[in-house]
Amino acid sequence: MVKAVVLGAAGGIGQPLSLLLKSNPAVTELGLYDIVNAPGVAVDLSHIATPAKVQGYLPPDDGLKKVLTGADVVVIPAGIPRKPGMTRDDLFKINAGIVRDLATGIATTAPKAFVLVISNPVNSTVPIVAEVFKKHGVFDPKRIFGVTTLDVVRASTFVSEVLGDLSLTTSVTVPVVGGHSGVTIVPLLSQSSHPLPSGLQQSTVDDLINRIQFGGDEVVKAKDGAGSATLSMAYAGAEFAGKVIRALKGEKGIVAPTYVNLAADKVGGEALKKELGKDLEYFSAPVELGPNGVEKINGLGKITPAETVLVKAALPDLATNIEKGVTFVQVPK
Ligand code: NAI
Repeated sequence: MVKAVVLGAAGGIGQPLSLLLKSNPAVTELGLYDIVNAPGVAVDLSHIATPAKVQGYLPPDDGLKKVLTGADVVVIPAGIPRKPGMTRDDLFKINAGIVRDLATGIATTAPKAFVLVISNPVNSTVPIVAEVFKKHGVFDPKRIFGVTTLDVVRASTFVSEVLGDLSLTTSVTVPVVGGHSGVTIVPLLSQSSHPLPSGLQQSTVDDLINRIQFGGDEVVKAKDGAGSATLSMAYAGAEFAGKVIRALKGEKGIVAPTYVNLAADKVGGEALKKELGKDLEYFSAPVELGPNGVEKINGLGKITPAETVLVKAALPDLATNIEKGVTFVQVPK
């Protein structure tokens, strides 16, 4: 029995993500929550012939508490998306408070649930969730994840395009590490399951890295004020949630990059900090998932000198983003 909950379920990501979770036969209960329209989305989805029982809630009458009761996995895509000209960090002002309040609900009602944070800026919203959990004395770093899967999905797609064969997209895997914004997104192309041709021009490689780092901007620009990635994000979110659920049910050997508190695996986390040469609290790395969440944080592995430069370039932004999230909860203004 698995109860999955979506907070922000009526939004651009929330609706297709809820559809995909309803389509996952491992989900037996699906709770949807939003400040608008969640009951409507729930009734619509409830007619689909898959096992999950769906129920939607709004804030009145303890809706948040009700939806979270018994939750195993909580996915959070609540908050405003980017418009052209905005960075993910520009969203902090509004989304930080939304995520803090939802995290408070989870900490008090479903403190053992796995929390999957989609709301941007992920580099800061994950520390916000963690700090709220610490305040309530229920913090377990193994159970809080920043969803960076869209970067991984984009890397598979864009690498396949460079290889000239889109049929490869489902089998190409590229570890993407660091964080989830601009230069903090670091694709490790040298570890691609399908290596790039050795004769590839350096400018093509540079363009590919840039496209993976700033792929979100392509969507924001094309949507021209109507928001950011929603459908590809829902796909990515359902992919990651699906992996977490499979691990929860006991499947072994599932590894996915995700942005976690490095205390989630003391040995792996410390080793990674040594590799980074910096005492960061959070980083996105390939993580082995298990029934209790993070089982093992893998290191960067063998990376090229050029990739070392990219990793180093990500560290200052990451440190600032993390500090911003932590301070927001510890020293509220
Ligand atoms: P949207 O505006 O379409 O939907 C957001 C939903 O959140 C709305 O239905 C809204 O009513 C709801 N909401 C707002 N405050 C709430 C609260 N306090 N409680 C519950 N629900 C609340 O936005 P969209 O496009 O779905 O994006 C959502 C978030 O996901 C944004 O922060 C965006 O930046 C982020 N995102 C993250 C990605 C990632 O890779 N992690 C990729 C793309 C977007």
